[in-house]
This record gives sequence, structure tokens and C-alpha cells, in this order.
Amino acid sequence: IASNITKIACIGAGYVGGPTMAVIAKQCPHIKVTVVDINAQRIADWNQIDLDRLPVYEPGLPEVVAEARGRNLFFSTDVEGAIREAQMIFISVNTPTKTYGVGKGMAADLKYVELCARQIAEIATDDKIVVEKSTLPVRTAQAIRTILDAAATNGKDTQLATSRPKFAVLSNPEFLAEGTAINDLLYADRMLIGSEDNEDGKRAEQALADVYANWVPRERIVTTRIWSSELSKLTANAFLAQRISSINAISALCERTGADVDEVAHAIGMDSRIGPKFLKSSVGFGGSCFQKDILNLVYLCRHFNLPEVADYWEQVVKLNDYQKHRFAKQIIDTLFNTVSGKKIAFLGWAFKKDTNDTRESAAIYVADELLQDRAEIHVYDPKVTAEQIYGDLEYLQKHRRNDNPCTATQFSALSAVEIRSLVTVHDSPYEALKNAHATAILTEWDEFKGYDWQQIYNNMLKPAFIFDGRNILNRKEITSIGFELKSIGKG
Ligand code: NAD
Ligand code: UGA
Repeated sequence: IASNITKIACIGAGYVGGPTMAVIAKQCPHIKVTVVDINAQRIADWNQIDLDRLPVYEPGLPEVVAEARGRNLFFSTDVEGAIREAQMIFISVNTPTKTYGVGKGMAADLKYVELCARQIAEIATDDKIVVEKSTLPVRTAQAIRTILDAAATNGKDTQLATSRPKFAVLSNPEFLAEGTAINDLLYADRMLIGSEDNEDGKRAEQALADVYANWVPRERIVTTRIWSSELSKLTANAFLAQRISSINAISALCERTGADVDEVAHAIGMDSRIGPKFLKSSVGFGGSCFQKDILNLVYLCRHFNLPEVADYWEQVVKLNDYQKHRFAKQIIDTLFNTVSGKKIAFLGWAFKKDTNDTRESAAIYVADELLQDRAEIHVYDPKVTAEQIYGDLEYLQKHRRNDNPCTATQFSALSAVEIRSLVTVHDSPYEALKNAHATAILTEWDEFKGYDWQQIYNNMLKPAFIFDGRNILNRKEITSIGFELKSIGKG
């Protein structure tokens, strides 16, 4: 097992593989970093000359790519070649919630990870350090180890056991958040490395720690047993999401009682034991990971026969479903109990600002619920394409989780044609808002705050409603123009 790493491969050129490897390459010019993917279009996009068209929109990323690409950072579809060459291979492929079979709707789908392990075992002719970068259920390293060991002997029976390649498996979960990925990677709170408890495991752990030590202070590189590292990732996301569901639960009570959720969050956040971060009440959390990772945790707890623990964490997701539903219902209720044929403008579609990622965005679920009532939705998002928006809605029709207690029974699937006739995507926010009955703010993009709200008011139908799902607008200014403003958690 190599101790001085000079060649790294990363399988998966997505939101994690791309930015993390770009930062490693930037900070370690002596290491050749090759990022590979089976998606040829994605690789072509990473190789775009025009850095504004990289497949991942992330502040600061174009500069990092510009510095390292072609020097020691490469994007390629040659998965086999990259595996063959590297001493250390990161697996950074997607691990979505299973949509079929055992564990459907709950467990993580590990088929892509398994394929990577098989491919590495198949191709490797020398020792490799295999790093789990994807988020995985606790004890996945065991499965990867079993595949690597078994496949390494397959068809290589003629090889002497001593000359077969050795593998060390590490867990190195990623904690970056989209929109702030480059900063999170450059100034990480911690880098976590879990290793197997043997000599090769320790050597591999040291080798990866040495890579990060090129820019991360040593005291921030945390090493643990491999199962602790895997479980820490699911736990971190569960705790973060739990804070959002907790403050969102309080937002509902604020609306009934006249308390103001932002004031409550501020007051409790000043307690140093609670802290001020992740207490922003919203239309509900989205993103590819919080829901997926909590459902995965819930599934694991059920698997290990811990139903009380499973129910506890599942409630975080249920509350989030409730929050999205509450927002959609408030729009319908306020617009005199129907939105049929009414123009509802959506500002924002991404799951948070500063990203083009829409996975699990609250906007998709709110739109879906309004479309059931045949609303006409007009969307503007500065970074999300029309095809992405239609694709998100079409995907949901096929994969709606049917255990959602708020919305389970009454939904009927919409066809692609119906979706395209009811949803219009605009390049200009002012066009999206013209003659609208109501505006719903779904993403907290900074530019929304600076719009000419007087002009928007003049061009909207009256009464002009705004449903601020992110509490970004100034209540005094907006209501003095004449808008009816509904915010989250404001009585
Ligand atoms: P993604 O879907 O953006 O990227 C995954 C990429 O892997 C895709 O481009 C896909 O084509 C590629 N891929 C799949 N199987 C492959 C194979 N066999 N060979 C080559 N390429 C293959 O996913 P992502 O958002 O980057 O997430 C990756 C992992 O990181 C997930 O486990 C996720 O939970 C975790 N994670 C994500 C974030 C985030 O902010 N998105 C943060 C921390 C951790
Ligand atoms: C989250 C975690 O923050 C990362 O540490 C983790 O690595 C990542 O998931 C992952 O595993 O994928 P991300 O989903 O990119 O990162 O973005 P967050 O900033 O966590 O936001 C998630 C969602 O929660 C967004 O929809 C956001 O709008 C919402 N949110 C966040 C709130 O509603 N209120 C808050 O106070 C904070």
C-alpha cells in the first residue's frame, strides 16, 4: 500500500467528485488527479473551455478549475485507464434512495458503488487504496472489501497469492454543502478518515491524511474506526436536518400564536449550546442528501430492530413533508380555496441559492400540489433550465413516495403534456410575474431582494399576494407598496 500518493483517480464527476478533486488538484500540484465518469456529456462539460458552462454551478469553482485543469487535473471517460494508473481511488458515485425491490423508498441504492468495487477489483494489477467518498450505510466498507477480495482472486488463480494486488478501504465522507463547496473544502471544519484496524489500513489512513495536510491543519484531520466514520456522515446530516424540522415545527406554532419564528430562532440561537446556524425556517429542506440519508438511517435502524429509533428520525422527514404541504395549502386557501386557472409565479426552483441543483427541491413538491388543482405556474430561476424543471416534475409523477401522510391519497399523476401546458419557464422574472395572482418565493436567491417590487406590484393582479417561503423580503417595504405578504412562521 503506497504511502506517498502521486496519482489519484475519482470515479464520479458529480457535485462532489468534481469540486473535491478540483480542490485537491489545486492544493497539491504534485499529485495527478483524474476524474472519470460514464456520463460522456458530463465529462465533456467539465472540459468546456467556457468555464461558465461547467456542469456544476458553484461560486469559486471556475477559478479553481482554471488553475488546475490540464496541469494536474483531468476529466476523462477512460474509467479503466484511471483505475489502472492510480494508487488511490475515490468512489464518488451517486447513492440515491432505492426506487425498486427490497428497501424501496428507504434504503440507499448501492448498485453504482458495487459496480465500482467490482471494476476496481477486475482491473487492478497493483495495490490500491479505495476511498469511500459517497455517503454510504454503516458497514458498506465490509461489502466493498468482500467484493475486492473475492474478485481479486477471480480468474487470477494462476497468480501467486503473494503477487495479487492488496486493497485498503477507507471511509472519507464529504461534508461540503452546495453553494459554498469551494470554501467548505478549502477551510473544512474537519476531514474525517475511517480506516480498517490493521497495518495496511493505518498506512492508507496516513497516506490520505498526508494529502489533506497539504492545506488542512493536522488537528482538523480526524481519524476513527471505519464504522464510526460511515455512521458519522449519516448522523451529521440527520442532526442538521433535524434542526430545520425543529424550527419549522415551531414556525407552524408561531403562525397560530402571533410569535415570530425569526425572533424565536435568534433568541434561542444566542444560547451558545444551541448556536445560531441552521435555524432558518423555510418552505422545507431539499437537496439530494438530507431526506435520502435520513431514510437510509431509518432503514438501518429498522434492519437492526430498533423501531423506536427509526420512528424518531423518520419524524424529521415527515415534518419536512408537512412543511412543504402547509406552504402549498396556504397558497390555495388564501387564493379563495382554488388556484385553478390562476397564474402563480415561482421565484426560484433550486433547492437553495447559489446552486443549479434541484434535487428534492421544495419547489417541485409545492408545484406538484398546486398543479393538482390546475394552477398555471410560471417559473423563473437564475440558474435552472426549463428542461430540468419539466424533468423534475415528470420524475415526481413516477416516483412519488406514497407514505406521505399529508398528501398520500388524493394525488393523480400528470402527463408530460399536461405538465408542459400548465408550467411555463421564463428567462425574465418580470415576465414570470406579469399578471400573476400570486408570487411564491421558493429559493433565497439574493437577486430577488433587489427587484423593483413597485413595478412588480403594478403589473400583478389585485389583491397581489406574495408567499415568502424563505422570509427574505422586508415586510414593511413590501406591505407599504400594497402587497398581501404571507411569510413562514409570522403570526
Ligand atoms: P451526482 O449524481 O452529481 O454524481 C455522481 C456521478 O457518478 C454521476 O455523474 C454518474 O454518472 C457517475 N457514476 C455513477 N456510476 C458510475 C460508474 N460505475 N462509473 C463511473 N461513473 C459513475 O452525485 P453527487 O451529488 O456528486 O453525490 C455523490 C455522493 O456524494 C452521494 O453518495 C452523495 O450522498 C454524497 N454527497 C453529496 C453531497 C452533495 O452536496 N451533493 C455532499 C456530500 C456527500
Ligand atoms: C447538506 C449539508 O449541509 C452538508 O454538510 C452535507 O455534506 C450535504 O448536505 C450532503 O451530504 O449532501 P446541502 O444539502 O448541499 O448540504 O445544503 P444545505 O445548506 O445543508 O441546505 C439543505 C437544505 O436545507 C436547503 O434546501 C436549504 O435551503 C435548507 N435549509 C438550510 C433551511 O431550510 N434552513 C436552514 O437554516 C439551513
